[in-house]
Amino acid sequence: MDVYKINGQKRLQGTIKVSGAKNSAVALIPASILANSAVTIEGLPEISDVGTLKELLEEIGGVVSIEDGTMHIDPSKMQDMPLPNGNVKKLRASYYLMGAMLGRFKKAVIGLPGGCFLGPRPIDQHIKGFEALGAKVTNEHGAIYLRAEELRGAKIYLDVVSVGATINIMLAAVMAKGQTTIENAAKEPEIIDVATLLSNMGAKIKGAGTNVIRIDGVEELHGTNHTIIPDRIEAGTFMIMAAAAGDGITIDNVIPFHVEALTAKLREMGVKIEEGEESIFIPKSVNLHAVDVKTLVYPGFATDLQQPFSVLMTQAAGSSVITDTIYSARFKHIDELKRMNAVARVEGRTAIISGPTKLESASVRASDLRAGAALVLAGLLAEGETEIRDIYHIERGYSSLIDKLRGLGADIRRETIEDEHSPKENKK
Ligand code: EPU
Repeated sequence: MDVYKINGQKRLQGTIKVSGAKNSAVALIPASILANSAVTIEGLPEISDVGTLKELLEEIGGVVSIEDGTMHIDPSKMQDMPLPNGNVKKLRASYYLMGAMLGRFKKAVIGLPGGCFLGPRPIDQHIKGFEALGAKVTNEHGAIYLRAEELRGAKIYLDVVSVGATINIMLAAVMAKGQTTIENAAKEPEIIDVATLLSNMGAKIKGAGTNVIRIDGVEELHGTNHTIIPDRIEAGTFMIMAAAAGDGITIDNVIPFHVEALTAKLREMGVKIEEGEESIFIPKSVNLHAVDVKTLVYPGFATDLQQPFSVLMTQAAGSSVITDTIYSARFKHIDELKRMNAVARVEGRTAIISGPTKLESASVRASDLRAGAALVLAGLLAEGETEIRDIYHIERGYSSLIDKLRGLGADIRRETIEDEHSPKENKK
């Protein structure tokens, strides 16, 4: 079993560079299925989700190569192969294969997606959109079957503001006949990024980034080159780390506008933040005080930063309250933090955290991606050596995290240890 080991309490200093956005990457790669010639995507993060999607495109006949974050995808020989099992289960974003394959082939079979468990994560709004466009959608033995004679533009009102449904409906609609309108659409920067790629492929999309998106279907889409946006969640994670454990850190390759809700909350806590055009500098923070946070859809405070932010709250004086309105079960990291001496409790969708607390090392488990990032930060702050297990969650979404943190002076390493639950051990 591979673990991270962190010797905490090293003050961090220097410059850390943000990679391309994971939640864009996982949509841009499937979007390439819609093109009739090669698509190149530059600036992809080195994360396992990207590798899994590469394999999925290859499974349906794509010719894909990746080097130094640049992926070349030749989709011309792709076929509508069913993907009921295997790689699709490894990440939630495999649901984008539904929209993209439906858009191109008018049919798809995709196993129900995996990914982080954060409470129930239904895809009813995606399916409602596909059905409105004329697809017949059934759930058979854990896989979603989609089929359409033809796709026709429609007016779709999302009952829940959903990033995934907004992007998936765009993917299915770009080659549908006539106009599609998505109302109550999500407004995340990743949606604009996907719309930019699709537009450069020849799609006609207006309003991405607002809550009404209009798409005029076109006959076909062609290849293009695209550079991905920086990862605002990774940037936010580093900002939180800088506020908690930094002695002056510059976060490079960030769009400050994308992290405004976090910046405002950090300032409210007493953190100084200097914004550049594509960078943010955070000097050493002193006398942090408690704040209340509520996660909301973009441009509100991102749910994906709730877990790392809750670690920062352990360092602030007073009682902080953080409520996750997006997911009902995104607090599994709190029990692990309590093992590290945090004073915290969860009540429903809210965590109440008191500080400041001197964190202590422990052996802890990452229950999901952002919980993992939270535990890394806790390890950086804690006295002694912290061991983090189930790091595969972290490596699904953070590119070269160990090297990046070492560059700031962190004492963190990846190690293979004997798994006490391994078959060899069990034989004893
Ligand atoms: N929802 C529904 N029905 C649907 C779709 C969503 O009820 O058909 C609900 C969800 O259960 C959730 C809320 O709507 O309560 C928002 O879900 P959304 O669809 O926006 O989330 P997602 O597209 O599945 C993306 C990111 C998540 C991020 C959320 C919210 C990707 C691949 N994932 O998920 O990222 O938390 O948006 O911003 O883009 C992460 O990066 O760690 C992560 C989990």
